[in-house]
Amino acid sequence: MNPSIFDRAQTSARYLSGLLNREIDIAVVLGSGLGTFAETLVDKIIIPYEEIPDFVRSTVEGHTGRLVAGTLPGTSIFVAVMQGRFHYYEGYSLDEVTLPIRAFHAMGVDKIVLTNAAGGINLNFKSGDFMLISDHINFMMVSPLRGKHDQRLGQRFPDMTEVYSREYRQIAQEVASELGLQLQAGIYMALQGPNYETPAEIRLMRLLGADAVGMSTVPEAIVAKQMGMNILGISLITNAAAGVLDTPINHEEVMKTGEFVSEQFCHLLRRIIERIGSGHK
Ligand code: HPA
Repeated sequence: MNPSIFDRAQTSARYLSGLLNREIDIAVVLGSGLGTFAETLVDKIIIPYEEIPDFVRSTVEGHTGRLVAGTLPGTSIFVAVMQGRFHYYEGYSLDEVTLPIRAFHAMGVDKIVLTNAAGGINLNFKSGDFMLISDHINFMMVSPLRGKHDQRLGQRFPDMTEVYSREYRQIAQEVASELGLQLQAGIYMALQGPNYETPAEIRLMRLLGADAVGMSTVPEAIVAKQMGMNILGISLITNAAAGVLDTPINHEEVMKTGEFVSEQFCHLLRRIIERIGSGHK
């Protein structure tokens, strides 16, 4: 019989704990084009995903595929960063996509920042904006919790009333205004991808209340919430969603926007983690 998800997460966690030899204060998942935050940590320990038992490999350009752990400069906050994530569209199961989140939890992590690149559906958004995820719509139409229940993973029917911590969102807004940075807020809608959407789909999604669209984050957030973790979600609006402008969308543009705002993003994230990473839940 295959090992259970719980056991696989334990195996990954044991391996990582052995290498890190230190409690992780907060975990971060970096989306497309946002990988540079990992470089800003000090005394880094770098672990390629292929070396971590039960992790799969990240196959997307712009997703490096390694775990970087280190200290946030000027603090004693020990951060574990996923530089690149696994996506459903890569052909992995949602168990595989979300295993790192379960492994973090197995290592005692209860705070996580999920970031992503997203298309802007809300007409007030522009490319390069950051959006706090206030809630999500799971248009992937599949739950990572589907399957035989294992109560060691959390509840069978977990509540999703407040997936993204209200307190963390408040803190992120405070930090942004201290930095003089505009921070949008809105609903993230996740689709399976990997193709971008049609203009008609984007119009539908706008009618349904979505502000941004992407191909990740929601499975990770659902699993993290099931396990009782405190979650902050940030989207980088890398492009206007299909049909908003009369131009095609491409992955290069997504990556370029990430590079363009990289410094701002690192700054924002660092200041947020200073506030939420240090014992303060
Ligand atoms: N659609 C879906 N995913 C995305 C987009 C988009 O426009 N931009 C970045 N990720």
